[in-house]
Amino acid sequence: MVARKISDPSGCRRSKKRKLKTQRGEILKKRNATKEGISPLIEKYWFQRYNLFSKYDEGIKMDEGGWFSVTPEEIAISHAGRCGNGAVIDCFSGVGGNAIQFAKMCHHVVAIDNNPERVALAMNNAKVYGVEDYIDFVVGDFFQLAPSLKGDVLFLAPPWGCPSYKNLQTFTLDLLKPMDGYTIFQFAQMITPNIIMFLPRNVDLKQVEELSWLSSPPLDLEIEENYVQNKLKGVTAYFGGAATAQPRPS
Ligand SMILES: C[S@@+](CC[C@H](N)C(=O)[O-])C[C@H]1O[C@@H](n2cnc3c(N)ncnc32)[C@H](O)[C@@H]1O
Repeated sequence: MVARKISDPSGCRRSKKRKLKTQRGEILKKRNATKEGISPLIEKYWFQRYNLFSKYDEGIKMDEGGWFSVTPEEIAISHAGRCGNGAVIDCFSGVGGNAIQFAKMCHHVVAIDNNPERVALAMNNAKVYGVEDYIDFVVGDFFQLAPSLKGDVLFLAPPWGCPSYKNLQTFTLDLLKPMDGYTIFQFAQMITPNIIMFLPRNVDLKQVEELSWLSSPPLDLEIEENYVQNKLKGVTAYFGGAATAQPRPS
């Protein structure tokens, strides 16, 4: 017997139509990205712009490094909820994703970044959220400033290198920039043991634990996985008082 393939012309037309509609949607999205001067490298992040800043359309400004590295808003809100009422130092503040949420929760914030253009973008973005008066913006090198800084909680979101960190099976702390994770943590401890560190999702958790017990006395530690729309975006390590603080409602 010969098996004959029975085709369904109407079903085929429907699926073709669906495909065309999706393709048209993609073309329109790309056209909008081009209109905003978004390079193909950034497009992927631009499509997620409202996850990064819910007020994106109200005048948020970014540079290329900012697109790659800003903490998604939902995660920044949960970081801010763990800071108590004191002063927070955001040691690598970028375009302001975290600093804005710290300030929104009524913390006084010192936001440090060594890139002056990025600090200007962060100031603009803080204005969009109406929190510019709660943040002291500092252009400077965290490592040089550390001995003179005072704060209740220290927030560390150092550069993770380039986006290819995702391809590594394990991200070890020596890959953090501009210094390895152990050194960054030592500088942070000069200021306070209450430290929050935002790290890649594939970070070596044994090394993160090591940071807590290399301290004397060993610091409390809580590790949290951070998801946005069911996608794991990073891991947050809360040390010292930040590990035991009760999360505040946003
Ligand atoms: C991952 S980004 C921070 C993103 C930020 N949390 C946000 O949500 O927008 C890291 C930032 O650290 C800054 N940076 C690098 N080395 C630094 C240093 N030595 N001192 C201060 N900032 C530095 C970079 O310019 C970059 O903007």
